[in-house]
Amino acid sequence: MVHRVAVIGAGPSGLASIKACPDEGMVPTCFECTIHLGGLWRFKAEPNRASIYHSLTINASKEMMCYSDFPIPADYPNYMHHSKILKHLNLKQYLQTNLVRQRPDFSRTGQWEVVTENRDGQEQRHVFDAVICCSGHYTYPNLPLKDFPGIDTFEGKYFHSWDYKGPEDMHGKRVVVIGIGNSGGDIAVESSRVAEQVWCTTRRGSWVIRQVSDNGLPVDMKYNTRFVHILFQLLPMSILNWIGEKKLNAMYDHTMYALKPKHGFFNQMPVLNDDLPFRILSGSVIIKPNVKEIRGSTMVFDDGSTVDTIVNATYKSGHRIGLYKHVFPPNIEHPTLAVVGFIHGFGAINILAEMQARWATRVFKGDAACFLINPLHSFVTSKLAPLQVDYVTYMDDVAGEIGVRPSLLWLFFTNYPLFKKVLWEPATSYQYRLMGPGKWEGARRAIFTQFDRVNQPLKTRQCFSCLNKPMCWTSHLSVILLSAFLKL
Ligand SMILES: Cc1cc2nc3c(=O)[nH]c(=O)nc-3n(C[C@H](O)[C@H](O)[C@H](O)COP(=O)(O)OP(=O)(O)OC[C@H]3O[C@@H](n4cnc5c(N)ncnc54)[C@H](O)[C@@H]3O)c2cc1C
Ligand SMILES: NC(=O)c1ccc[n+]([C@@H]2O[C@H](COP(=O)([O-])OP(=O)(O)OC[C@H]3O[C@@H](n4cnc5c(N)ncnc54)[C@H](OP(=O)(O)O)[C@@H]3O)[C@@H](O)[C@H]2O)c1
Repeated sequence: MVHRVAVIGAGPSGLASIKACPDEGMVPTCFECTIHLGGLWRFKAEPNRASIYHSLTINASKEMMCYSDFPIPADYPNYMHHSKILKHLNLKQYLQTNLVRQRPDFSRTGQWEVVTENRDGQEQRHVFDAVICCSGHYTYPNLPLKDFPGIDTFEGKYFHSWDYKGPEDMHGKRVVVIGIGNSGGDIAVESSRVAEQVWCTTRRGSWVIRQVSDNGLPVDMKYNTRFVHILFQLLPMSILNWIGEKKLNAMYDHTMYALKPKHGFFNQMPVLNDDLPFRILSGSVIIKPNVKEIRGSTMVFDDGSTVDTIVNATYKSGHRIGLYKHVFPPNIEHPTLAVVGFIHGFGAINILAEMQARWATRVFKGDAACFLINPLHSFVTSKLAPLQVDYVTYMDDVAGEIGVRPSLLWLFFTNYPLFKKVLWEPATSYQYRLMGPGKWEGARRAIFTQFDRVNQPLKTRQCFSCLNKPMCWTSHLSVILLSAFLKL
């Protein structure tokens, strides 16, 4: 019987895992190598630490990122600054401020030994029935200097995005940002406000989408619905890509903006950046192909063009790891080790990690199945982005393992208004608290009020509504009559 669980890391995934343990009657102990909660989301001013930059705002909207039984306060903004996220994540109760290895009797007990070192350098050993590893996959930077011949001759300063805190050092400089992921896009935009010129290089190009979607809705609240997900099951990817690219190009043509990637729109996570197209249009950011070589202060690009006096270069990249459904290491005698948070999807990590943690604790308890088969057969991923999953497909799949996947048929017959919400409205995490283990009585209400919480922080001024004014009705009527008359 699993009772004591070690959770390694106190970032969003660790916090979700800590919370999942008591829900299943287990006692978690969290080991965090810093003295802080929040993981990457705690801003650190000092260099050489995995951190975020000062201006970072999360790219998932609040209703699409909150834990499933813990809605974010209605008055919080839809896209939150990192400081607000940290407030929301506070869960200090179980935290202790390593090395994890199997116990000699692992075959019999499935237990683990966690070895820690205290501040005086003394080793301490702790025995646990299970371990959840949530150490994050952006803990160390990827700085592939070998890909940039001549970097040793470079006369300016170069660094990885994990050391970028803000644009203060970029005033009046000529800056090259290497790589157009979400970090590259943000850093290019922010530094272009103070730099003399910014170039942003890309090997493959990127689809760039806006966070503010039609009618001003957060883009994930608009498109991350179960209905859209069903369309994804029915239509071929080429058609879906064609539709997505057509809509996107109607806003700004990706070929015209030199952004168009080789891959289709839905084949890789897009860059979310509302400002980048404008910075390109205004000439303060120039998109270039990949860097071929560096000669002193001159940077040579793949197309043979050059730029002088480069000051900064920034890039980052993901990792590949083979886990059963992105959680359990295969070929292990007892499923008492789980990895939570090594995943990407068009939805925030918090929600994905929470679902993984709920499954992991159910498996530890013996209440959910986990077939430790070859990871290659476990979940389809893209070669371009091995940690990437389709958000709803993955959530539903893991939810099915726990028994919390919402049944559309059951809802249709038992609660039609809720069925409509679950089908047509955003696939928020509350849907996974409607039934099964961990059912939350507040889930239905949270679903019915999710758009109220989207609107609440925007109600900052009473606006003139012409529908209330009789005069306006007459003006509407005259426009309709005039149009009808002109048609005749
Ligand atoms: C600049 C940037 C912006 C991002 N923005 C978003 C976003 O908008 N939306 C999104 O969904 N994702 C975003 N991400 C991805 C990010 O990985 C997740 O948001 C989130 O931080 C992952 O949470 P985590 O708990 O898995 O890992 P982390 O946040 O990295 O936390 C891991 C924790 O484990 C601790 N740790 C590591 N090793 C050990 C050890 N051996 N012993 C004890 N403790 C250990 C670390 O100190 C850390 O506190 C962003 C990433 C970056 C780099
Ligand atoms: N909230 C936010 O707004 C925000 C901000 C920053 C980051 N994030 C998140 O944080 C995570 C990491 O994002 P990220 O942008 O740091 O990393 P990323 O998405 O992995 O992007 C890395 C970029 O660097 C390029 N690159 C990698 N190795 C290279 C090489 N050897 N030579 C040239 N280019 C190279 C890649 O190019 P190719 O594509 O050609 O391989 C890619 O464009 C993502 O989940 C992202 O969504 C979110």
